[in-house]
Amino acid sequence: VAEYSLRPKELRSYIGQEKLKQKINVYIQAAKQRSESLDHVLLYGPPGLGKTTLATIIANELGVAIKTTTGPAIERPGDLVALLNELEPGDVLFIDEIHRMQKSIEEILYSAMEDYYIDIIVGQDATAHPVRFPLPPFTLIGATTKAGMLSAPLRARFGIVERMDYYTKEELAQIVTRSAQVFETQISPTGALEIASRSRGTPRVANRLLKRVRDFAEVARKPEIDLETVRYALTMLHVDEKGLDETDHKVLHTMIELYGGGPVGLNTLAANLGEETETLADMIEPYLMQIGFIKRTARGRMVTQKAYEYLGIPFTQN
Ligand code: ADE
Repeated sequence: VAEYSLRPKELRSYIGQEKLKQKINVYIQAAKQRSESLDHVLLYGPPGLGKTTLATIIANELGVAIKTTTGPAIERPGDLVALLNELEPGDVLFIDEIHRMQKSIEEILYSAMEDYYIDIIVGQDATAHPVRFPLPPFTLIGATTKAGMLSAPLRARFGIVERMDYYTKEELAQIVTRSAQVFETQISPTGALEIASRSRGTPRVANRLLKRVRDFAEVARKPEIDLETVRYALTMLHVDEKGLDETDHKVLHTMIELYGGGPVGLNTLAANLGEETETLADMIEPYLMQIGFIKRTARGRMVTQKAYEYLGIPFTQN
């Protein structure tokens, strides 16, 4: 039966991240040959690159179940214990945003990951004592936008640590074409490439833009999504040729107009923009950095000459 989902279910339908796919495939086959659980996996990189998709594929390829949660959703030790308790041998526990897990909860994971047991404190005050609960062998897959924010002891317990990279334009065009098939929508190759080049190297963005462009194409009764429709729709959406949206433009203009292009500290800039520092650091800044529009210096963030030229503003160095 054909699987009509935007998220592929098998490694061979996953587009891009070629080296990572090759390695993961070897680790999966090796674990299966030894009838062992896969070693714990840490996936890190910017949001929207397919970390959750990959975790689901890994579980599927291993032929095991996956339990999914996020770092901030685990509020009390009991929440984590409940999740661990449900695992069957070999299952995957996926923790997204694992860097946002509380320290006290993180510590429970150490023995669970290393030796498959947890110590739970039973009783109160004078009678309080730890009771050891064995766990089945399992695979923890952690995902984070910031590997640097993980504590060293937690990071050290992942046998497989992999960075996800931004996708090429060609890979994104393939993803857009595949997604259009899932939607049963026609798209021209040049239309797919145009969406791809405005998607900031990110499949999540590509799929979101495809949905909006499809709306314009359908309402205009176009038989297919062509280049003209993509350009028209993305202009309406204020997504420019490099995929920068109004927020990105606001960041660059604020840095230039209020701080002479920088240097400016991340917190100061976030406050000025009315954004969370974390949103700015994790979601907005990485792509501007990737395309060389912002650089990090010891004194703060600076707008580059390249960005001034793109914006058509005369470059003046601080
Ligand atoms: N959809 C989202 N990410 C994808 C990927 N990497 N490959 C195929 N389809 C996707």
